[in-house]
Amino acid sequence: MVKQATEETADEVTPETGRMPRRIVLGVTGSVAAYKAAELARLWVKAEFTVDVVMTAAACRFVAPLTFQALTGRPVWREMWQESAGDGMQHIALSRGAQAIVVAPASADFLGRAAQGRADDVLSALCLARECPLFVAPAMNQQMWSHPATQRNVAALRADGVEVLGPDSGELACGETGEGRMLSPEAIAATVSAYGDEFGALLAGRRVLLTAGPTFEAIDPVRGLTNRSSGKMGFALARAAAQAGAKVTLVTGPVSLPTPMDVTRIGVVSAQEMADAVFAHVDRADIFIGVAAVADYAPAASAAQKLKKEANETLTLALRATTDILAELAQRAPKVFRVGFAAESQDITALGETKRRRKQLPLLIANRAQDAINADDNEVILLDDDGAHPLPRMEKTLLARVLIEEVAKRFHEWVKRV
Ligand code: C5P
Repeated sequence: MVKQATEETADEVTPETGRMPRRIVLGVTGSVAAYKAAELARLWVKAEFTVDVVMTAAACRFVAPLTFQALTGRPVWREMWQESAGDGMQHIALSRGAQAIVVAPASADFLGRAAQGRADDVLSALCLARECPLFVAPAMNQQMWSHPATQRNVAALRADGVEVLGPDSGELACGETGEGRMLSPEAIAATVSAYGDEFGALLAGRRVLLTAGPTFEAIDPVRGLTNRSSGKMGFALARAAAQAGAKVTLVTGPVSLPTPMDVTRIGVVSAQEMADAVFAHVDRADIFIGVAAVADYAPAASAAQKLKKEANETLTLALRATTDILAELAQRAPKVFRVGFAAESQDITALGETKRRRKQLPLLIANRAQDAINADDNEVILLDDDGAHPLPRMEKTLLARVLIEEVAKRFHEWVKRV
């Protein structure tokens, strides 16, 4: 029997602690992994969270709502049109005051519905009407996960600021092996608790300017010089900075990534255009993060017409050095907290530190070029005046948040000194 939710009691400050109780909305959709959601609910209850469970009709075929009701001691939400639900506004009310909505497992169907902004069941309506962060932990057959339609939906969700957790690789319920396993309940719980309210205040009222992606230096109207860079790290950092409360401007070379929510995007092509855009905006910035793989050299002159192959047995291109944007900012904007990236193929720490000193940066983030380019995860070393601080390998979206925390910490120290 589904009862009326009593979320008002969960949002009240308790007389015992004087604090707001912590509440999580756990969405469960139709997947074999639904049984693992019971463990997730149990972990949160143990950690003294109030857990409100919302199940889709398909989820109820895998696990009985009563399991969740027993574990959480709360009513389970299943229907949009529950007559017992007071004013019928539970699709809005449930997410108010919640720390997060976590959909685990998230089926391919749910991801598609959420990506489209559907609102015809209580869980998808809740996701649309939320004010809090939304996490989804996909779980499905490997073919369903790798299908372009699912990947399109996941990319759209990410662009809307949704945190996609996993999936893992391994043996799947269908007997096949591959990507599509739901992350473990422990991993999901740990990631969600790392996203506290404090994160949203880290850079409140600050302005962050970033560069991302490659640049393209024209040789003639169709050819050019460029670097390999997907832009994923820079875009993830821009998104994390916006989530941390900053006003974010992202100057990006040619990439096909969607613009993160609440980020102002300035598209450029060449290193010179990137430099001009950065110099035009840096005066208003508190923090500059140079993630772009800027071409070091550009053709001394770009041909107006396409160069003809027949006319040249060998072709010698005259190149000129481009403006080093980061190095130049040490002179132009010494009060801005400047952060550089360095992708090195060897001696990462030593070469990174040399670069940090040459460009006069308070912080440089160094990584192995072979690992970083185009990958979805990355392992970096932070270099500052106190030495080298390695971080474990993690997904770029999570790494971006950790890096923003590290940047914010050092920035707040820096402003006291400059
Ligand atoms: O010297 P290198 O290109 O390896 O330095 C990498 C760092 O410097 C990155 O943060 C990159 O965005 C920045 N950079 C720049 N302008 C350039 C070259 C690199 O801002 N012309």
